[in-house]
Amino acid sequence: MRILIVGSGGREHALAWKLRQSPLVMDLFIAPGNGGTAQEGVNVPVADSDLPGLVALAKEKRIDLVVAGPEAPLVLGLQNALEKEGIPCFGPSAFAANLEGSKAFSKTVMRESGVPTAPFMVFDEFERARAFVQERGAPLVIKADGLAAGKGVVVVKTTEEALATLEDMMVRKVFGSAGDRVVVEEALTGEEASFLAFCDGERYAVLPSAQDHKAVGEGDTGPNTGGMGAYSPAPILPRERYEETAELVIAPILRNLANKGQPFRGVLYAGLMYTDKGPMVLEYNVRFGDPECQPLLLRLDSDLAEIMLACARGDLGGVEVRCRPETALCVVMAAKGYPGAYPKGMEITGIPEADAVPGVKVFQAGTRLEGGKIFSSGGRILDVTALGADLAQAQKAAYEAVGRIHFQNSYFRGDIGAKGLKRIGG
Ligand code: AMP
Ligand code: GLY
Repeated sequence: MRILIVGSGGREHALAWKLRQSPLVMDLFIAPGNGGTAQEGVNVPVADSDLPGLVALAKEKRIDLVVAGPEAPLVLGLQNALEKEGIPCFGPSAFAANLEGSKAFSKTVMRESGVPTAPFMVFDEFERARAFVQERGAPLVIKADGLAAGKGVVVVKTTEEALATLEDMMVRKVFGSAGDRVVVEEALTGEEASFLAFCDGERYAVLPSAQDHKAVGEGDTGPNTGGMGAYSPAPILPRERYEETAELVIAPILRNLANKGQPFRGVLYAGLMYTDKGPMVLEYNVRFGDPECQPLLLRLDSDLAEIMLACARGDLGGVEVRCRPETALCVVMAAKGYPGAYPKGMEITGIPEADAVPGVKVFQAGTRLEGGKIFSSGGRILDVTALGADLAQAQKAAYEAVGRIHFQNSYFRGDIGAKGLKRIGG
């Protein structure tokens, strides 16, 4: 099989690394890729948003399966464009990708499907949104409808803050057209967890639970990032709850979209919050989380190429998704300053030494390979991921490996996994 992976982060390095292990995979291309994917396959400089470029590349390389890493190309219609050429794509159609591409669509599908989620209203007009917020009062959550690079969700504590946020989104258009429409919803409280399932349009196969660490600072302080670390399983969502959770948050969505003639094929990611009324869905993503993907793929003990092709073809029936019982934990090493401005171009040393720690695999995110050396090129630089007998051991191995890696202006959180350890009394 010849596979093309779209994207350039740590998630895509992990996908490339795992797909490389499949005896079905002969050739692997990554567009545009990074310093890590360059060691697993061939990087091709086509941007992940360049749909015509990606389709042309897939035809030229006679690709059997395109794997979409990020959401943007899917929302733009990558799957639809490939389907016209008869090329299977792991990742949903543009319609189904709206589960992530439009918060209003996503919330409406949740309500139609009976999925537990915060009560909400959708507004297209600033004046109406303002009147509603003034009447309701804070706390509330205000979400720009469209994709806003992970910044379009604001939890507001006061009415003034709510009004300022509405004005930013709907009048000042700080997120461009993503803020033409907003969702205003009830603010929930509780611990968050991620739950992902491979989907073939009708059937699904669940992955183990995971937990992200979105805030940049230790103790979940400071601005939100793409994710500073993750681990799997998340003690708040233990294995014996996977099936009932899937029945609650995955199956109804698949049925709804199949009934609309728009089957969801790919990986469906439910972002959950454990409230005192039980789990509620905060959002859906239509792709693997980054960095959640890294610990999940370290645990996956089945052939990823076989699973992905089966999803794309709508035939997950005979395919097994097996995971190792151990815990995996990923520490993101970033550039100091991220998610704000940060320096680039630092030389990175110690990756082979870190990989030598038992159970450890270092995935690369914002890196490039040049003259046999690795240099930083982004804010999140490395994803140091370790498999251990339990959470404490995975954490120990990951941080031991982190200690062997050196580059200037390095920053990482020292408390990845701490919340999970507290929950299990570790
Ligand atoms: P989303 O992009 O919808 O996942 O939102 C990003 C983050 O905002 C989530 O991970 C939560 O931490 C927070 N969030 C979203 N919706 C709510 C809500 N209804 N109540 C409280 N926090 C929320
Ligand atoms: N780590 C969260 C996300 O990928 O959306």
